Amino acid sequence: MEPISSPPANTPAAKQGRPITDDLRERVLRDLPEIAEIANDDLRTKVIEAWAFALAGSSYESLIDMPACGVPGIFEAKGGNQTDHLRAVTRQAILVADDYIKNFPLLDIDRDLVIAGALCHDIGKPWEFDPLNRQRWKSSPHTGRPAIRHPAYGVHICLSVGLPEEVAHVAAAHSAEGNMVARSIENAIIHAVDEAYWQVMTAGNQVDPETIPAVYRRP
Ligand SMILES: [Fe+2]
Repeated sequence: MEPISSPPANTPAAKQGRPITDDLRERVLRDLPEIAEIANDDLRTKVIEAWAFALAGSSYESLIDMPACGVPGIFEAKGGNQTDHLRAVTRQAILVADDYIKNFPLLDIDRDLVIAGALCHDIGKPWEFDPLNRQRWKSSPHTGRPAIRHPAYGVHICLSVGLPEEVAHVAAAHSAEGNMVARSIENAIIHAVDEAYWQVMTAGNQVDPETIPAVYRRP
């Protein structure tokens, strides 16, 4: 049998690249001001830590530097950056959750989990978007393309910084990966507004037509 000649998965690009500094934590809070809406101190701190951890393990200095797309090549917005999507999904998830909480009191919705989950749903994206990782995945038939999608990598980040299982579940299952499980009530809200975001942007002609998946293309 031929020996595997591609670099091992734990190449430098796959490790935590930079130290997590207070500057980076402050940058995260500045770029995602909705973090302040989380009432629980520990949860709020860990959401900041998770994004600092995600960015420090990538080539990106900040979320502003990340392109405004679903994933590279799919749903590429004509302008903006990655914070536009994260912040819109978070604001809208809060609006939807608050309506249910007010008008359907029998539903057991945890508002803090909605906010933390929405903020962290795409937390694996710095890894999946990272040009260094994409170059490695492109150059080897052994890694997969990508090796790990952002939902799975997001679980790694959430659990590494001590975020609760309920938030890791949102990272894991906000996307099509979640069709294999029963989504939590908080994740059901986040999944719905996450999908709606790209549908509305598409309907509003804000997505490069070449990057719209066939199922979402308009006649
Ligand atoms: Fe998303």
